[in-house]
Amino acid sequence: MTAGHININTNSSSITEHTHTLFVCKTCASVWQDGKRIGESGGQKLLNQIQELAQDWHLREEFPIQEVECMSACNRSCVVAFAAQGKLTYLFGDLNADSSAAILECASQYYTKPEGLLPWSERPEPLKKGILAKIPPVSYQ
Ligand code: FES
Repeated sequence: MTAGHININTNSSSITEHTHTLFVCKTCASVWQDGKRIGESGGQKLLNQIQELAQDWHLREEFPIQEVECMSACNRSCVVAFAAQGKLTYLFGDLNADSSAAILECASQYYTKPEGLLPWSERPEPLKKGILAKIPPVSYQ
């Protein structure tokens, strides 16, 4: 087992799951006309850029990128979230494709923090102002 993974043992098998996820909304900053999306959304551009950069990211295996349709912060597009078992969940907005490197840098910081705490002063510039939510970890008892 490597850091960032958890093994779940069932009766006869072992399932390995990632404990960290980078969610990226691919619908943000879409242009609509007559009920149809015109061209590539800003969220899709951001997702593409993050995925390209993540090919050389040292955490690409431990911190998978998951595209989502919407995280209900559409008026603050583009939107990403960091989530992990036992850690704070963060939602960030006001991002664009130029923020991709900063997002992966911040995700790396999040990965190394036991509780995922990301102080304002330590976050990369694009993720200082656009914070939308900091949700406490779920406690299992
Ligand atoms: S469309 Fe991206 S958060 Fe709703």
